[in-house]
Amino acid sequence: MKISVIGAGNVGSLTAMRLAQACLGDIMLVDIAKGLALGKSLDLEDARWILNSDYNIKGTEDIGGIKGSDIVVITAGLARKPGMSREDLLLKNSQILKEVSLNVKSLCPGAIVIVVTNPLDLMTYFVLKVTGFDKGRVFGMGISLDAARFANIIANEFSVSVKDVEAVVIGAHGEAMLPLPGQTKIKGLTLNEFADKDKIELVVNKTVKRGAEIVAALGTGSAFFAPSAAVAQMVRAMVRGEEKVIGACAYLDGEYGIKDICIGVPCRLGKNGIEEIIELNLNSEEAARFKESANSIGQLLKGILCMI
Ligand code: LAC
Repeated sequence: MKISVIGAGNVGSLTAMRLAQACLGDIMLVDIAKGLALGKSLDLEDARWILNSDYNIKGTEDIGGIKGSDIVVITAGLARKPGMSREDLLLKNSQILKEVSLNVKSLCPGAIVIVVTNPLDLMTYFVLKVTGFDKGRVFGMGISLDAARFANIIANEFSVSVKDVEAVVIGAHGEAMLPLPGQTKIKGLTLNEFADKDKIELVVNKTVKRGAEIVAALGTGSAFFAPSAAVAQMVRAMVRGEEKVIGACAYLDGEYGIKDICIGVPCRLGKNGIEEIIELNLNSEEAARFKESANSIGQLLKGILCMI
């Protein structure tokens, strides 16, 4: 199993580390910045003896290094700066991902692609269209990170173990995300049953703003520990054929009454990528807000269609 990670910034290099240390495959870290991927891969390789593990990791600035990959993780692109929305990144990152996608298409035509670059829902659609790959083989990591944040914030706010929280978030990976208190459970009780309205609103708002909170605190760059953990979870589900249901930014072709857009929904991930899109029973308010979330993506999508 060959897994390439394109982009050796914080998210990319930490993803490479997690994948290597979990022995999920032979890892190739690629970045056009001179020496960056090589330097980080040598450093990661040096840790093998200490960790007593024979994992395999290489790094290069040559995109040709991804040739024959089974899985490609795309983290290349600019990260958000304080005050910048994910959408501000749209045009710049579309240009970068156009070239990356064409290389993925020619060098690893059989690969499954996980997009991590923001604005996530738009970049996932863009990569899907430029590669022309099957819809189950191109999806994005974003909403499972949001679910992880929702679970963490619930655990802290209500003093419960994070392991007892089953968090569900759908929609765009951005301000229009939809944490779902009616579908989120704490040991069998939905969050709606578990807490009062004000508290629920508080944890939902905190979740929606978490990415920006981290960007503001760091001053430069955005989150990378939880994002890389979320990517590794997706890769593991595929490599091990776990058939695990994980929120992913997937291409909808009529599911949830929505067509021709990539947006966060629960997906069963297995050896072939997305094996199934799970359609939750949304109440009328949730369904309406999900449509709004999809519309927010659709509006921005128009700006990049000409670049596909
Ligand atoms: C965040 C970025 C990675 O949510 O989108 O932190």
